[in-house]
Amino acid sequence: MMRYVKRILAVLAIMCVWGTQGLAEVTEAPNPIDISKAVKRCKACHGSDLRGKKKSPTLYGKEFSAVYTSLTSDVPKKMRGVAKRLTDEEAREVSRFISALGPDTGHPEQN
Ligand code: HEC
Repeated sequence: MMRYVKRILAVLAIMCVWGTQGLAEVTEAPNPIDISKAVKRCKACHGSDLRGKKKSPTLYGKEFSAVYTSLTSDVPKKMRGVAKRLTDEEAREVSRFISALGPDTGHPEQN
């Protein structure tokens, strides 16, 4: 009799472990995509603060659609290399990030 109880307990213990692992998978946030490398490339031309450098304009005050377009369908010649390397999801995520910078208020701590 005791053997059965032990077996049942063992099975229950295993089920508990599986059960909590399943829960962890469900509650975990979906893997956010990492755009830090892509943004680093933008900075190489648009300046480390993204406020523009030489012929590359500031990236402040841009609408999402303007950034997305310049990374996908209407890419400036100079940006073909960087645009080509972005998946559509990355282009969206980068555009979201850039457009969220908002207008340039001149505060260095803005980014
Ligand atoms: C190799 C240099 C280079 C890189 C890398 C680069 N850009 Fe540019 N970008 C430019 C230049 C030069 C222009 C101006 C093009 C023009 O006026 O024809 C520009 C223009 C833009 C514009 C303005 C388009 C418009 O006409 O309104 C946006 C938005 C932009 N870049 C976003 C980005 C983002 C986001 C990244 C990073 C994913 C990036 N750029 C990476 C060189 C670069």
